[in-house]
Amino acid sequence: MKKTLLYSIALMFSISAAAQAGDAAAGKTKALACGGCHGMDGNSVVETFPKLAGQNEKYIINQLKAFKTSKGRSNDLMLGMSAALSEADMADIGAYFQQQKISSAAPNDASRLALGREIYNGGDVARGVPACKACHSPTGAGNAGTGYARVGGQYVGYTLAQLHAFKNGSRTTDDKSLMRDIVAKLSDAELEAVANYIASLK
Ligand code: HEC
Ligand code: HEC
Repeated sequence: MKKTLLYSIALMFSISAAAQAGDAAAGKTKALACGGCHGMDGNSVVETFPKLAGQNEKYIINQLKAFKTSKGRSNDLMLGMSAALSEADMADIGAYFQQQKISSAAPNDASRLALGREIYNGGDVARGVPACKACHSPTGAGNAGTGYARVGGQYVGYTLAQLHAFKNGSRTTDDKSLMRDIVAKLSDAELEAVANYIASLK
């Protein structure tokens, strides 16, 4: 009886561990449906479609769940694309994209890089704006453990659209309002500057 109980606990743990870490090889096949917009290797070619290459699995799963339930983030295209995905599919696809290498992007307006760098690396103490690098890392690689998004190398157009979505409240996927509280304190010109700087990160 005791042995059976221990065995089933051990089995439960192995199952939940497997459910967390996706299978990148299986994900590659499942991601074929995503390639048309995001690029087969996660490097999309237009600004309206975010690059997924190098994005962390945890973050990808969270966003897919949000799109699927339209909780915190809605998009008609992604509502359709996420509808049929199980949690295991999301993990497999996330594992696949996390392993891909993001291509470099260029700023749209190089004259904004200096201000963008200042905000990204130092925030603004006077207004209570934390440095972006504290969560998204100095290189913009994000944090796979916490699920903080990779932002480095992303298109300016996409990044800027998301910063505005946090600012106008149409995107609320950020736990404890982390991003909404930050962008509320920044002007549109500052958001544009930091989006340009982020694109230049490698
Ligand atoms: C028809 C085009 C299209 C297809 C196909 C598509 N997507 Fe998307 N995807 C988008 C658009 C547009 C966005 C940006 C939505 C927004 O602005 O919030 C997006 C956003 C995302 C995001 C959020 C990225 C981020 O940085 O927050 C993830 C994750 C994602 N898609 C995964 C997938 C997966 C997985 C598939 C395949 C199963 C897929 N997409 C197929 C158009 C598409
Ligand atoms: C306290 C931690 C924290 C700080 C500081 C922070 N962020 Fe974030 N950021 C997050 C989290 C968490 C998310 C993911 C929210 C979600 O899951 O939708 C995020 C998401 C984003 C996204 C969306 C990425 C995507 O692919 O859609 C962008 C862009 C972004 N942050 C930019 C910034 C900028 C610019 C700054 C500095 C002005 C900043 N962040 C500071 C935690 C932080």
